[in-house]
Amino acid sequence: MVNGLFQGRDIGIKVSDLNLWYSTNHALKQISIDVPKNQVTSLIGPSGCGKSTFIRCLNRMNDLIRSCRVEGDVVVDGTNIYDPDIDVVELRKKVGMVFQKPNPFPMSIAENITYGPKIHGIKNKNELNRIVEESLKSSALWDEVSDRLDKSALDLSGGQQQRLCIARTLAVNPEIILFDEPCSALDPISTAKIEELIMNLKKDYTIVIVTHNMQQAARISDYTAYFLHGKIMEYGDTEQIFENPRVKSTEDYITGRFG
Ligand SMILES: Nc1ncnc2c1ncn2[C@@H]1O[C@H](COP(=O)(O)OP(=O)(O)OP(=O)(O)O)[C@@H](O)[C@H]1O
Ligand SMILES: [Mg+2]
Repeated sequence: MVNGLFQGRDIGIKVSDLNLWYSTNHALKQISIDVPKNQVTSLIGPSGCGKSTFIRCLNRMNDLIRSCRVEGDVVVDGTNIYDPDIDVVELRKKVGMVFQKPNPFPMSIAENITYGPKIHGIKNKNELNRIVEESLKSSALWDEVSDRLDKSALDLSGGQQQRLCIARTLAVNPEIILFDEPCSALDPISTAKIEELIMNLKKDYTIVIVTHNMQQAARISDYTAYFLHGKIMEYGDTEQIFENPRVKSTEDYITGRFG
């Protein structure tokens, strides 16, 4: 870790000595990284290097994969999320996730958003309406859908569906939002909207994003980690990583020499 990298910033996620195996495949090797609060941290690296595996460790999505075994610590708010007594439902409320392909539920726009809050016990109709409006405003979708909240979410465009999925994540009031290639199924205009949204969200949330788009990482992230073969090869200030990489393989990757 580079000394003074975060200049006294609070740490949102502290990962120490994280190792992960799928059966005998040692997919993450000795990962230690501090993710600063209220910043955007991007994860880059060639296909198969472990980016999705790593981001899924941050809210224990890998628990759903039977062959998967994890060792090490991931500390959020002073608690190791791999402690046996952690409530995983509460954890995933605190650490939300948005996936590559927009995956709205086959329900109305409003129901997509109220689904999570209802599971977490909110029943009051006014409160639910307030959450719908606030979440859609925060995800920059309100103006486009406010007159059709009871219509199916599946009728939205791909870019709108992705913003709805972001709204759905915001609706349960997370602290951290994980994005795994959120724009790879979107056109450039929708991509620009999501990028702007992510940059706005960082004032309220800690953001981690996996991207294959180097320009995107350079545009929207404050810090960048370069993964290769299950290890972090280099981690630093985004500007430094892109303009002055210290590791040869980082330079080769970002200049397109491999990967
Ligand atoms: N569900 C799974 N079961 C078994 N092995 C897996 C699983 N998911 C990923 N792996 C393996 O873990 C390694 C890392 O894969 P991962 O999907 O994390 O890479 P990635 O960096 O996200 O790649 P991409 O850029 O293509 O999305 C690969 O060797 C992959 O085959
Ligand atoms: Mg992936």
